Amino acid sequence: MSAKTAKKIRKKFGKQPEPSRVHEAGPLFGRTIIYSVLILALALAVGSLYYSYNANKLPPPLPPPPADALYKQADQPIDKRVEDLLSRMTLEEKIGQMAMVDKNSIKKPADISRYGLGAVLSGAGAKPEDNTPAGWLNMVETLKRQSEHSRLGIPLLYGVDATHGHAGVPGATVFPHAIGLGAAGSPELVRSIASATAEELAATGINWNFAPMLDAPEDIRWGRTYEAFSSDPELNARLGAAYVEGIQKPVDDRPTLLSGAKHFMGVGSMEWLSSNNKNFKIDQGATPGRYDLLDNQYLVPFAAAVKADTGSVMVGLNYFGDKRVIDNKYLVTDKLKNELGFKGFVVSDWYGAYEFSRTSKYKANITTINAGLDMAMLPYDYKDFVKNVRRAVKKDEISQSRIDDAVRRILYQKFKAGLFEDAGYTVTFDKFGSAGNRQLARRAVAASAVLLKNNNTLPLSKNSGHILVAGSGADNIGRQSGAWTVEWQGIDGNWLPGATSILEGIKQVVGLTSNVEYDKEANFDNLTAKADVGIAIISEKPYAEGWGDNAKPVLEEDDLKAIERLKASANKVIIVTITGRPLFMSDQITAADAVIAAWLPGSEGRGVADVLFGDQAFTGKLPIAWPAGIEQLPIKTDGTTADGKPPLFSRGFSL
Ligand code: BGC
Repeated sequence: MSAKTAKKIRKKFGKQPEPSRVHEAGPLFGRTIIYSVLILALALAVGSLYYSYNANKLPPPLPPPPADALYKQADQPIDKRVEDLLSRMTLEEKIGQMAMVDKNSIKKPADISRYGLGAVLSGAGAKPEDNTPAGWLNMVETLKRQSEHSRLGIPLLYGVDATHGHAGVPGATVFPHAIGLGAAGSPELVRSIASATAEELAATGINWNFAPMLDAPEDIRWGRTYEAFSSDPELNARLGAAYVEGIQKPVDDRPTLLSGAKHFMGVGSMEWLSSNNKNFKIDQGATPGRYDLLDNQYLVPFAAAVKADTGSVMVGLNYFGDKRVIDNKYLVTDKLKNELGFKGFVVSDWYGAYEFSRTSKYKANITTINAGLDMAMLPYDYKDFVKNVRRAVKKDEISQSRIDDAVRRILYQKFKAGLFEDAGYTVTFDKFGSAGNRQLARRAVAASAVLLKNNNTLPLSKNSGHILVAGSGADNIGRQSGAWTVEWQGIDGNWLPGATSILEGIKQVVGLTSNVEYDKEANFDNLTAKADVGIAIISEKPYAEGWGDNAKPVLEEDDLKAIERLKASANKVIIVTITGRPLFMSDQITAADAVIAAWLPGSEGRGVADVLFGDQAFTGKLPIAWPAGIEQLPIKTDGTTADGKPPLFSRGFSL
């Protein structure tokens, strides 16, 4: 071989034997080697192309089942229907059921039937172009119809995070975020809210809600503190069970929905600076592997949700000790499924089967499914998932019986929710953002307000004379609704149709009996005399997940100034906090005449006015301890602070 030929080969195929050495073996022999190498390389290339073509290729479709197949008969017991359907499914169809895909990642709608996908979600912000209830219904039903066209016609689950109402859709009733409901502490109220949320979901065709959130936050710096009811696992258990019942129990002719208790488990105890995500500080982090706390702390709310028959449980993105929870067979299978007796299906969180995994996607699929994962919120590449899981089953790295168990669980829930039958439910939008649901939300807002301080100031008289209102949260529906409202991170500002700001609520309550004057910055320079009362409604900008991790949750500079100016302009100053967590604000609390924690009340700002002016009594209690400063964090669920001193206000406090 000439040096020139060898160079050409090297360029094409990488490192080759040195031309001189090839040459030494004689011209003919040298050429034979080159040809062999070429043929081998060609064979390898063709082989790998053929393999990947075949791996991606689905087997030819089987004929459809008979019209009277047992699983199609509504009067048959669910177990029998599940077994009949399972016995008709190909391996690929089973794996498809185990896949959940974000609606924005579906390459073409027909893939839903082609791959027999089990579920679709609208991750926060994955909305239809026509962002109205009718637009949502149309989007969801179009995708659901695709699955009806699949060979076996297995219906599709469509999930969203309606954690404080169906708040992804403008015009929905936005209920207080969970922390407010924890303050209200009433299972009946939570059950009614979940049920009203289910009505609004059903109106848009959605049949699965990724709620309730059962984490018990120990560190208020965490950006998801407000998504939790409280730091008390027992209270979370009571409220969580009520939420599951409200979502899953049909009222009137409304179809059953599935609830999604999350995030299994120990997520509220992740440690500051343990995040595996470089953008975050605590979210997606690590929980110390305290196995001794499982039964009395971490599993308590999940045991209650299981008892209330939750259809699904979502596993968090956290590590427990040095292992991801999703990889932990002991936690997911032995504890949750076997010991607690969970009969629904286990779903992973967003990209959770892969996120922070230290292995390949293929291996992550094997580990998580073997640990007990039934449905993966992929949420992107379903083709890859089907290919990998199929390969793993063929190689016996995942057993056929594990796959059957996963699919059996998913199908059971689909039958139980009546998805295979047309329940004759006629979709109407009457319940969507209805007066009744808004009334319920307003009641919840009042019930969630916690009175932290009161120097003979509250309730205010409606004849207070001159009332000044200021602060970033007074006239900002976006802030009072918080994140997970239309957009994942929420929207700062007044834009939500049908909602009432707190300022507007105050004006409505006092009517013409008092003069209400508003300026966000509290520039009331033209006053001839001090006003009777100043109300500073301070707030946090909306945030979701790790983007809300905050090393020092304090008041915004503008709100601090507004409080100061109000003090100069009014005889009494009341502070209302519109925040997802307690803030470090001991000085402001000391200086104020009254302080109310109103959390993230949602669309019905009038509920705040109801307690301010005594139309409703204060009944809320602190759902989480209020620390004096950073040195007290974390505050354990049993109330122990990091500095050993009592917090500013303990959990359960109220006047
Ligand atoms: C969150 C979950 C949520 C999921 C789907 C994830 O980022 O951790 O709570 O259910 O997204 O939107």
